[in-house]
Amino acid sequence: MGGVLWCTTVLLGVLLLNSALFVNGGSTSSFVRKVEKTIDMPLESDVFRTPPGYNAPQQVHITQGDQVGKAVIVSWVTMDEPGSNTVSYWAQNSKTKRKAEGFLTTYRFYNYSSGFIHHCNISHLQYNTKYYYEVGIGHTPRTFSFTTPPEVGPDVPYTFGLIGDLGQSYDSNITLTHYEMNPTKGQTVLFLGDISYADQYPNHDNRRWDTWGRFAERSTAYQPWIWTVGNHEIDFAPEIGENEPFKPYNHRYQVPYKSSQSTSPFWYSIKRASAHIIVLASYSAYGKYTPQYKWLEKEFPKVNRTETPWLIVLMHSPWYNSYNYHYMEGETMRVMYESWFVKYKVDVVFAGHVHAYERSERVSNIAYNIVNGICQPVKDQSAPVYITIGDGGNLEGLATNMTEPQPEYSAFREASFGHATFDIKNRTHAYYAWHRNQDGYAVTADTMWFLNRYWKLEEESTST
Ligand SMILES: [Fe+2]
Repeated sequence: MGGVLWCTTVLLGVLLLNSALFVNGGSTSSFVRKVEKTIDMPLESDVFRTPPGYNAPQQVHITQGDQVGKAVIVSWVTMDEPGSNTVSYWAQNSKTKRKAEGFLTTYRFYNYSSGFIHHCNISHLQYNTKYYYEVGIGHTPRTFSFTTPPEVGPDVPYTFGLIGDLGQSYDSNITLTHYEMNPTKGQTVLFLGDISYADQYPNHDNRRWDTWGRFAERSTAYQPWIWTVGNHEIDFAPEIGENEPFKPYNHRYQVPYKSSQSTSPFWYSIKRASAHIIVLASYSAYGKYTPQYKWLEKEFPKVNRTETPWLIVLMHSPWYNSYNYHYMEGETMRVMYESWFVKYKVDVVFAGHVHAYERSERVSNIAYNIVNGICQPVKDQSAPVYITIGDGGNLEGLATNMTEPQPEYSAFREASFGHATFDIKNRTHAYYAWHRNQDGYAVTADTMWFLNRYWKLEEESTST
């Protein structure tokens, strides 16, 4: 009996000592979250309404259409008949209407037949100009607008929004509303993968792709969303005869991958204002000799920090993640590419996938070479900050379980829904802010002044 007590005491002592030794990571927020279940909005919800009128275009969304921001890809769906592929567009201060011809696609998925999905690239636009555009010509036209970015250049201010794993729950609606109401006005959304979560329904009920498109239209029709693919875009379902990965996604969403010499829509790059943005694919091969590897190997040396000081990478599965959910899923890609990220001084890596929020210190873990045993992340001012922002609010709910103690590399983590903004001021400074849904629109829960890794390689301070 005495022996057992002694053992227990020693064990407790060791545990306490352990925590004293290792609880020197960043902070884990003590914020008390909502406890209601995260559920999808019903099909008949007002945010999913179809626009009135015969063959009215719906699910309108735009994305960048070239490498530099002078083109826009406009996409929309008509339900009654194919209708026109034409987009009519005009600059705010011009009476000249131009027209561009797009193309049409449809697909079947098990027992679902898609509407008529239109895509049209409008190019040779002027920088920094508000354009109106009209789709649905001939039946029920609808008009939207967007503003092109300023010309690519080193000190061009620009504000990106960051949203991941959005889905179509009541919480997703709150996240999107908070993004729209944020006093820091995002001009383009960097979307980090996992769009509709249709694959969570029996037979991947593709009507949920349509409802998502109608739900998000209030933002996606007016500013570009830059797409990263997540696992919920794979839609691989051989049990119902669906053997073509990414089928619904590929038909519905277009990206300008060819203008960055990519051979696949899943990895590509764009320049926008003062940022060079590289989008990577967690669910395509990335090992040595693969197309993605070869593309990225050539892409990094092309980045010109004098032209685009800010180097941002997007991916779905995070490399540094201290939640128990999806733990180490990003590890194999990290092993392949992390040394390039440090060599080329990536400023920040945004990922989704884990339904929570986390920001890392600037760390790297690239010294390991099998025999030397050096496999600890170390502080590294040439390394990116890794931010996981998979907290858009989808029906799978929050990831609340964290690995304990908090690792040293993890600067701040909190299991709340939200979105972020990355507000570039000039070539040296950018203000980053994460907003949790429970707070007011103007309240930030985690902020950081980013100093550019190429122009100002100094340590930063943060406030949470
Ligand atoms: Fe995911």
